[in-house]
Amino acid sequence: MIRRHLAPALAGAALLLALGTNARAQEGGQLNIICSVQAEWCNMIQTVYGRTTGVKVNMSLKGSGEALAQLIAEKANPKTDIWFGGTGDPHLQAAELGLTLEYKSPSLPQLHAWAQQQAQQSGYKTVGIYSGPLGFGYNTELLAKKKLPVPRSWADLLKPIYKNEIQVANPASSGTAYTMIATLVQLWGEDKAFDYLKALHKNIQTYTRSGTGPIKAVARGEASVSISFVHDGPGEALQGFPVATITPSEGTGAEIGSMSIIKGARNLEAAKKFYEWALTAPAQELGAAAKQFQVPSNKSAKVDPHVPDFKKIKFIDYDYAKYGASAERKRLIGKWEKDVNSLPR
Ligand code: F6P
Repeated sequence: MIRRHLAPALAGAALLLALGTNARAQEGGQLNIICSVQAEWCNMIQTVYGRTTGVKVNMSLKGSGEALAQLIAEKANPKTDIWFGGTGDPHLQAAELGLTLEYKSPSLPQLHAWAQQQAQQSGYKTVGIYSGPLGFGYNTELLAKKKLPVPRSWADLLKPIYKNEIQVANPASSGTAYTMIATLVQLWGEDKAFDYLKALHKNIQTYTRSGTGPIKAVARGEASVSISFVHDGPGEALQGFPVATITPSEGTGAEIGSMSIIKGARNLEAAKKFYEWALTAPAQELGAAAKQFQVPSNKSAKVDPHVPDFKKIKFIDYDYAKYGASAERKRLIGKWEKDVNSLPR
């Protein structure tokens, strides 16, 4: 009886709430974002930014390479206002292709030098919002069970004992995997890097679409080792999975996760407001709140203890301008498809 009376009242309240939210959303306008970080962080931004500003945030989750492909496809009639996150190389490519808008934020001096450099290099068409090192994830229990050692170097991954044990993403869709190719080319030169990738191919169990797919598979015991950004490890471990990370002894690369405003954005003023908000320390701290442990680009943002310690890692001097250049990125991915991915395993 009570339930019968309550039901219409609740439905009415829900309707009012929905109408209220809609009215607020209309007040605040709307914003269409392609989000290339993990869903937890995208969702947190959507909720927090939407609630505090009244802007209706429409999120579409896409890997870095897929996001770029979508922006190229909608160039004549853009449906996206902001591209948030994803590796920096395809953001630089988007800048070069004229897909993103020049915007020099007054907040740039608050950012680390690497984030400002990303902006300068693109003619202020993108900006660094976080950074993180490339390395390996591994399942501690699975390695122990299979009596396999923890791989400590790029060279280790070629050992026959890891056959079918390793996952990495496909560089056409994933910025993580492209960062791996660019890192190896910079470490050893192109010929040696591609010989390495061909040899590695024999040990690969699956090439995933998304860059975070491999470490999730490792965490869940579907593979022993992944090639991943190491900041993606602690979030899995915090969920209770037996996963740890390591960076290769020969040296490795880092991404400059980036953000760009789309040229021709229909909600340009809202896009600029969001961009400014996303560069603030409190907005960047939402990453760690969503268990995402990249280094924030705002110098005042708190660095969570789970964020990898860059001082302990051997880095190459990654040439972002060269490997973010459109022709180079396309060429290297094409070469990988032709010379590596087409080989039998
Ligand atoms: O969100 C986690 C993350 O590793 C980011 O740091 C990175 O920019 C992004 O994923 C890359 O994703 P993908 O390899 O799918 O393009």
